Amino acid sequence: MPPDLTVQLAPKNKKGLFLDNPVMTASGTFGYGTEYSQLFDIQRLGAIICKGTTLKPREGNPQPRLVETASGVINSIGLQNIGVKALIKEKAPVWAGWRVPVIVNIAGDTVEEYGKLAQELDGVEGIRGIEVNISCPNVKAGGAAFGADAKSAAAVTKAVRAATSLPVMVKLTPNAGDIVGVARAVVDAGADAVSLINSVKGMAIDIKTRRPTIGNVTGGLSGPAIKPLALALVYEVAGAVKVPVIGCGGIANAQDALEFIMAGASAIQVGSATYSNPRASLDVLEGIERFMEKEGIKKLGEIIGAARK
Ligand code: DHB
Repeated sequence: MPPDLTVQLAPKNKKGLFLDNPVMTASGTFGYGTEYSQLFDIQRLGAIICKGTTLKPREGNPQPRLVETASGVINSIGLQNIGVKALIKEKAPVWAGWRVPVIVNIAGDTVEEYGKLAQELDGVEGIRGIEVNISCPNVKAGGAAFGADAKSAAAVTKAVRAATSLPVMVKLTPNAGDIVGVARAVVDAGADAVSLINSVKGMAIDIKTRRPTIGNVTGGLSGPAIKPLALALVYEVAGAVKVPVIGCGGIANAQDALEFIMAGASAIQVGSATYSNPRASLDVLEGIERFMEKEGIKKLGEIIGAARK
């Protein structure tokens, strides 16, 4: 018998969010999924989370938007995306024919915009859940400003919860003073799950031009550099809330993923690792399966939070 990797990420939601396995692709690192379908069998993944989506299409921030650092990458895309209408018209019908569930990441400038986005997505075939992005470090209004504070994070969650019956997970920022307080607040406001962490504010300077390397001056740091930080925050949040926690931050292989799972994550997201290895998410999944077989672990639930006991 192969090990059972299934996981329910929205146990309190009527529709639920049942995944065949805990491996997701992180928002912004996997496009709309369609871009990768030629490269490997994306239907084997637990879920795909699409690029952050706003009400209106966005062109994003000035170039340069991406810079490599010693053990990670800084990006400042500025939520470039096709907008929710085009997403519903062009992408959702494709997703409706997929086995792998697709979750739409949403971002707004105001609480009302988050509510409107959720309303637009409610009931659309091919969309299985919403990830609320209150953690984008690269936009002036909204974004991480909402996620930095428990009150505003709760207000956004409430607006989304009221507008949709879809499973709702809220993606948290490490750039918050009290991420545990924010997690508690969004759960109280109706979040079915929380995902963490989004990228960490970072910067690089080109000493020849004496200017910031990133067009928008600062960006979001992701990759191996943030893994230990993300792991500690997942451990703390998982100890504080009763909903499923989805771990994210520097996961590049099965060892990384298993650490997050043992810290208390019910599922994980593979992000910028996909840039250097487009099939990193599938490699992570296969590595988890191999580990479970070798260790005689029959169900994923046996190791979720194992490091906490
Ligand atoms: C962007 C959004 C994010 O949530 C993030 O972590 C990094 C970048 C962006 O679109 O700029």
